[in-house]
Amino acid sequence: MAEYVTVAKIDEIAKGKSKLVQIHGKEISVWRIEDSYFAIDDICTHEEENLSNGDIIDTFHICCPRHGAEFDLRNGKALCLPATEPVQIYQVRLTGEEVQLLV
Ligand code: FES
Repeated sequence: MAEYVTVAKIDEIAKGKSKLVQIHGKEISVWRIEDSYFAIDDICTHEEENLSNGDIIDTFHICCPRHGAEFDLRNGKALCLPATEPVQIYQVRLTGEEVQLLV
């Protein structure tokens, strides 16, 4: 059964940056865009690069550092080739000073 897990303090992640966490054997990157937080599987669906090594572009899009595929942090959709499959996203909630993921 899914449950919320604390992964960071809200000020621990700088704006436009991410924190990489491992939960249940999965690498998940937790991104902060201004004061909103998003969580995605960190592994690119093209050739398994870590997306947390990439850069944010166009506010909500992460660009894979290996071949340049882009994903939308809000829904996980692959926005351009060479990736065609989405990355999984996770529900995020803020509780007090904590960032929590539903996993
Ligand atoms: S590994 Fe991410 S675009 Fe190729």
